[in-house]
Amino acid sequence: NTSEALARAESLIVSIPDYPKPGIVFRDIAPLLADADALRATVDGLLEPFAGTFDVVAGIEARGFLLAGAAAIAAGVGLIPIRKAGKLPRPAASVSYTLEYADAAIEMHDDIAPGTRVLLLDDVLATGGTIAAAHTLVAEVGGIVTGTAVLLELDGLGGRSAVGDDNLHSLFHV
Ligand code: PRP
Ligand code: ADE
Repeated sequence: NTSEALARAESLIVSIPDYPKPGIVFRDIAPLLADADALRATVDGLLEPFAGTFDVVAGIEARGFLLAGAAAIAAGVGLIPIRKAGKLPRPAASVSYTLEYADAAIEMHDDIAPGTRVLLLDDVLATGGTIAAAHTLVAEVGGIVTGTAVLLELDGLGGRSAVGDDNLHSLFHV
């Protein structure tokens, strides 16, 4: 059943100390993704609070893509890639941010229909810099973030308040 599959999914997230830098505990979702039942339960669980509230899913490179493709198919909507800087071929909005272990910028093509309702998807919420930047991006291109779903929220890094989104749903917490 669903709660057993979700508990199993959570148990498949592996913690790697001191990766990619000393002091960081990296949460690796690859073993969860590799398990069919865990992957299915995870995608369903991410979407569950947001049924009927979005027109498109936006996944954040790279690990957000792994969830967004599956979620878009499951929800019957299309997928927009939010990419690391310098990868998009057509006019795009760009936002710089800081994350737990690096600085980065993300970009999104600015061709969505005004008012498109976007469900943001990513694997991990840490400091919230990435999701906050994605919110800014979607607004800059004329979309509306109606929800944000992440697989794992790292409590205690302030990500939730940095994002400041009431419609932020984290499937698991650590
Ligand atoms: C990781 C993760 C989130 C982000 C969370 O991405 O996939 O996108 O960090 O951190 P934050 O809440 O502090 O912003 P990373 O940039 O490492 O990229 P990857 O998905 O390409 O591995
Ligand atoms: N993204 C930001 N911090 C992370 C962490 N500790 N593990 C995996 N992904 C991350």
